[in-house]
Amino acid sequence: MNWMNRREFLTASAMTAGALVAGSAPLHAASTAGAPGDFDFVFLTDTHIQPELAAAEGCAMAFKKVRSLPADFVLQGGDHIFDGLAVDRQRVDLVTQLYARTEQAVEKPVHHAIGNHDLFGVLPKSGLTPESAGYGKKFFVELHGPTYYSFDHKGYHFIVLDTVQPTADRSWEARIDDEQLSWLANDLGKVGPGAPIVVAGHVPLVSAASEYAAPTAQGGSGVAAAPVVARPQTTVGNAWQVLPLLEKHNVLAVFQGHTHINEVVRFRGVQYVTGGAVCGNWWHGTRWGIPEGFTVVSLRGGKIDWRYETYGFHSIDPQNT
Ligand SMILES: [Fe+2]
Repeated sequence: MNWMNRREFLTASAMTAGALVAGSAPLHAASTAGAPGDFDFVFLTDTHIQPELAAAEGCAMAFKKVRSLPADFVLQGGDHIFDGLAVDRQRVDLVTQLYARTEQAVEKPVHHAIGNHDLFGVLPKSGLTPESAGYGKKFFVELHGPTYYSFDHKGYHFIVLDTVQPTADRSWEARIDDEQLSWLANDLGKVGPGAPIVVAGHVPLVSAASEYAAPTAQGGSGVAAAPVVARPQTTVGNAWQVLPLLEKHNVLAVFQGHTHINEVVRFRGVQYVTGGAVCGNWWHGTRWGIPEGFTVVSLRGGKIDWRYETYGFHSIDPQNT
């Protein structure tokens, strides 16, 4: 059974189930009631804003182009700044304020996902301790609220995941923690049968990124600086616990960031879309041939399509890969 047939099967099954219970229970959760509508949104990720490398000018160009598009809102896939992990309070405040000022140009609602570079002070090099104000995720939560959440828009259910977890040894790993797994199962359980769902998060649940380049000196894959098994940082280490939850539902796509490449992997009926990066190769040109850009997603009557758009930035220090 190919993915389209499976999707139709899921929807048909859900409609049948809904009809059976319609007399005693709502067919759809109230928040996703009604036929799925038509609209666009923008998935943009990995802005990595900083005062250097004309990054703020690049972000402003990207946000200005997004503003000109007929999109209802923006999903920001994380790594807003460069950097939070290894810096002190003065630097994180500087880059965060720069981001906030620059993002205003988008003039649309923005839903934020947390990236690994949005974690504050986690690496010992930062000079912080776990007791420091804003340490870890606290800094992000104070700015944007919960790190994982869901919302509804025009008959679609959106789920934003938190894929980055600080570790006790002052690093981080890509994982969906147990509490979030329970929340996700519960949240999916409340969505009406067959209702279309879009998922987003920073570190990919599924990606073939480790296949595209020679291993790095650190023993990683060209994108990871740590052994993949001991400390997953390229893809979510326990994706195997997440995928079965998603596969039971009408998940149209999962949008992901982190690797700065533009890629689609389709597995057991779910499409995993890695959405490039606004900063390209960390403001040094193209990343494995993929230019600076973002993803415009179109939803039409319960079906999904998307395109990758560049926005005309030229690095002042190109080191294209
Ligand atoms: Fe990034």
